[in-house]
Amino acid sequence: MRKFLIAGNWKMNLNADEGADLVADIVSVAGKQTSVNVCLCPPFTGLESAAKGVEGSNVSLGAQNFHPEPSGAYTGEISAGMLRHLYCSHVILGHSERREYFSETDAFINQKVKTSLESALKPILCVGETLEQRESGQTNEVVRKQVQGGLAEIMASQSEGLVIAYEPVWAIGTGKTATPEMAQEVHAEIRNLLSQQLSEEVANRTRILYGGSMKPENAKELLAQEDIDGGLIGGASLKASSFNAIIEAAIELAS
Ligand code: PGA
Repeated sequence: MRKFLIAGNWKMNLNADEGADLVADIVSVAGKQTSVNVCLCPPFTGLESAAKGVEGSNVSLGAQNFHPEPSGAYTGEISAGMLRHLYCSHVILGHSERREYFSETDAFINQKVKTSLESALKPILCVGETLEQRESGQTNEVVRKQVQGGLAEIMASQSEGLVIAYEPVWAIGTGKTATPEMAQEVHAEIRNLLSQQLSEEVANRTRILYGGSMKPENAKELLAQEDIDGGLIGGASLKASSFNAIIEAAIELAS
């Protein structure tokens, strides 16, 4: 059985103090339960205060990006080791906003996935098609390229902790959600790709999250799908009331 992972992607929102308040409100609801995994991904500047807030609880911490080199002349960048030092256990990689606004390629994302696995940081590798690609029937092809490219040269034995997030770009921050059936179809396809590229065992244990306007109103239906193992939540993760409601929906389904 795969445990649900509910992850909050705060993007470029909330300063360290605002983040600490949100962490406290989430930890008070989700900090002691053990039936679902919860992970918060603040901006870099919020990691230290968030780490203090989640200490001793079951809520874990993730970053939204990092640079694949361990150190060096990369002005403005942050390494995996620095994130581990701030108690991060997860890192979001290949988010569509990074692909689009920062020109990240599958090859560069692949370097980061490799480094994260070597550094005991669990990668949340994001994949997903644009509206144009969906409408022209290219969804499976786009997702296949991103999964294969992101995981190139990674062996089944190295993939412990890998998480995939299917985020249709047209559903991110738009209020448009993929129907549970639409999402399930792509999730099943991703699991099939993992089975081909890594192994059936890896495919069965790897969590595939859905992301794109997930909110309390649609979380339960999405999470009830066979191959949807959690959510990567943007907008609705910025308010404790909506994020906690999604966590509670997952807890209910898990019990
Ligand atoms: P959203 O963002 O929930 O605001 O659509 C999801 C994401 O980009 O991870």
